[in-house]
Amino acid sequence: MKVSVVGCGYLGAVHAAAMAELGHEVVGVDVDQRKVAALNEARAPFFEPGLDELLGRTLGAGRLRFTTDFGDAAGAQVHFVCVGTPQKRGEYAADLRYVEAATESLLAVLQPGELLVGKSTVPVGTAARLAELVDGKVPGALVAWNPEFLREGFAVQDTLHPDRLVYGVPSGPDGERARALLDEVYTTIVAAGTPQVVTDYATAEMVKTAANSFLATKISFINAMAELCEATGADVKQLADAIGFDDRIGRKFLNAGLGFGGGCLPKDIRAFMARAGELGADQALTFLREVDNINMRRRIRMVELAREVCDGSLLGKRVAVLGAAFKPDSDDIRDSPALNVAQQLQLQGAVVRVTDPAALDNSRREWPHLDYAATPEEAAERADAVLVLTEWQQYKQLDPVAFGRVVARKRVLDGRQALDREAWTAAGWSYRALGRRSD
Ligand code: UGA
Repeated sequence: MKVSVVGCGYLGAVHAAAMAELGHEVVGVDVDQRKVAALNEARAPFFEPGLDELLGRTLGAGRLRFTTDFGDAAGAQVHFVCVGTPQKRGEYAADLRYVEAATESLLAVLQPGELLVGKSTVPVGTAARLAELVDGKVPGALVAWNPEFLREGFAVQDTLHPDRLVYGVPSGPDGERARALLDEVYTTIVAAGTPQVVTDYATAEMVKTAANSFLATKISFINAMAELCEATGADVKQLADAIGFDDRIGRKFLNAGLGFGGGCLPKDIRAFMARAGELGADQALTFLREVDNINMRRRIRMVELAREVCDGSLLGKRVAVLGAAFKPDSDDIRDSPALNVAQQLQLQGAVVRVTDPAALDNSRREWPHLDYAATPEEAAERADAVLVLTEWQQYKQLDPVAFGRVVARKRVLDGRQALDREAWTAAGWSYRALGRRSD
C-alpha cells in the first residue's frame, strides 16, 4: 500500500520505517529539515536500538523516503498522524496544535476513500472532532484512531510485534471500510494472531491514556510502599518480588526508585486529569494527582538522602550522577528524574558531575549549567558520593572494587535498585537505596 506518516519524531520515524519493513511504500513528512535529512541518510535523530539498521534496510529497498513537502503525501491510501502532544505551558492539558496543523495539511491532499489514522496520544473527544472537520472538507474520506503503545528503547520491536491492535472507527459502513484498510496495512501483524480491539473513537483514545495511567499508578504504588519501607525498616525490593509472584499483580513496573519521567507518563496523566475536569468527571481521576505527587516526592527524597550520606550538608561536596536519560537505552531527557535531582544537588551547593552513555549531547544542550563527564570514572573522580539514577547496563556492570579507587569516599546511592548490594558492600562501599534498609 501507499502510506504517509506525518510527524517523524519518536513515534513517526519508527512507524514509517516499520510500515516500510511490512512491505508498504512509505513517505514520512516532517517540518524539520534537519530531521528529514538525517532520516534520509538512515540516521535516527535520537537513540533507539535497531532503528538505524531498519532505516538503512527500508531506504535501501526504495520503499521509504522522508520529505518536508506535504504534497508528497498525496496518493497514499492511508495517512498516519504521529505528531507530538506535549503538555501545554503552565497547564495540565495537552497541546493539540501539532495534531491540528497536521490534519489541516493533510486536508489539502486527502481524497475520498482514503483513511486518516491518528496515532498521537490525544484527549478523549479529539478524534470525533477531527472526523467532523474531515467530513466537512473531504466528504467520503475516513478517520480512525489507532493508539500506539511502543516503549522507548524497544520501539522497533513494539511496533513490528505489538501486543494488541486497537482501532477506533466510526459506526456503520465507514467503520467497516476503515477497519479493512487498517487490517490491510497491518496484514502481517494481524496474521500473527495479534489480539484486536475494534471500537469507537472515545474508547480507543481512552485505552491509551488509561494504559499509561495504570502503569504510572503501579510505579507510584510501589514507591509509596518504598516510603513506608523506609519508615519501618522493611525492604521494598523483596516486597515487590513477593507481591509480584501473584500473577494478578505481576512483577513488571514494580521497580521502586526514582520514579517515572519521560515524554509520556507524566504529561499523559496530567492531560487525562485536565480532560476529566472539562468533562465534569474530575473526581474519577483525583487519585492521579496523588500518583503524580508520590512520583515527584521520590526526587526530593533522593536529594535528602544524598545530603544525609554527605554528613548533613551538600555544600562543596563532590557528587557523581550516573545517568541523565529518563530511562536506559534512550537519550531522551524529557522530564528526566536523574537530571532533576542533579540540578537540585547543584542548586544546594554540591559540585555535581553527570555522565550518561547516550544522553550527554541532549543534556548539554538543555541544561548547559551542569557539569558533564564522558565516563563514570571521570564523573566519580574524588567524589564524596556516587548516585546511580538511570539503570544503564554499563552501570550495573561496574566493578565496585576498581571503581572504589576513583572516589574519595565509597558511598553509593542506588536510585534504581540497579546494583548488586552485596558486591558493593563487600567492596567496602556504604550502600543506600530508596526503600531499602541501610545496612
Ligand atoms: C510509556 C509506556 O510504557 C508505553 O507503553 C507507551 O506507549 C509510551 O509511554 C507512550 O505513551 O508513548 P516510555 O515512556 O518509553 O513508555 O517508558 P516506560 O518504559 O513506560 O518508563 C517510564 C518511566 O517509568 C521511566 O522513567 C522508568 O524509569 C520508570 N519506571 C518504569 C519505574 O520507575 N519503575 C518501573 O518499574 C518501570
